[in-house]
Amino acid sequence: MTDDSIDNATLQQKAKTQQEIEAAITHLFAPEDDGLRQALITAKEAGLPQIQISPIQGKLLQLLATACQARIILEIGSLAGYSGIWLARALPAGGHLITLEINPHHAEIVRQSFVRAGVGDRAEVRVGNALELLPQVEQEGPFDLVFIDADKPAYPQYLDWALRLTHPGSIIVADNCIRSGEALREPEQVRDEGTAALAEYNKRIVNNPRLLSLALAMDDDYMDGFTMAVVLPESKER
Ligand code: DHB
Ligand code: MG
Repeated sequence: MTDDSIDNATLQQKAKTQQEIEAAITHLFAPEDDGLRQALITAKEAGLPQIQISPIQGKLLQLLATACQARIILEIGSLAGYSGIWLARALPAGGHLITLEINPHHAEIVRQSFVRAGVGDRAEVRVGNALELLPQVEQEGPFDLVFIDADKPAYPQYLDWALRLTHPGSIIVADNCIRSGEALREPEQVRDEGTAALAEYNKRIVNNPRLLSLALAMDDDYMDGFTMAVVLPESKER
């Protein structure tokens, strides 16, 4: 056996262990119930892209929403309704999730999935371009948590809106902020427009004295993940 083959075997073993750990954490801490599973099945059958967050990410969203005692949550980009279900389940009675979805067909599927998952009373889907819907949503804020998971080139604009629509103590989370490390580079060094916007998003979050933030690689193969930020009270601005 050459040194190379030993290294490969070790790497393969590590990747396997990593997968087993992820599966065990999911099984123990973030098992899906019928509502979540059915949302994914319905979305798949309808031909929606299967790019939803992982169960661990869903549970993290729920944990963050609970930690900031969220009563009103804004989601930009509904996709399958999967993240919306995790988030809405963190809401107390009378709480409200507004999720923005550009595709009317997808929005209808998400509505059905919300009802099936038992959050139809708390979770509302609005159809349209998020940048056009956000000015109307402003009157309904401020929001305790904002989750961004939509078209990537508009992430910096979504951050501007998230900052307008939140208050000290609110949490702003965005998906896909690692992108195999590309989104952690200087934006000018990134060729792809969407990924450059994600890099710009991270840069703005890090440099904003109103925010305390962290990016965490956490999806299936640790190649992507959330950037999370807490809006600081004025006295604690950095
Ligand atoms: C893509 C978008 C996402 O929100 C995601 O989580 C993964 C992939 C995409 O557009 O490719
Ligand atoms: Mg995403």
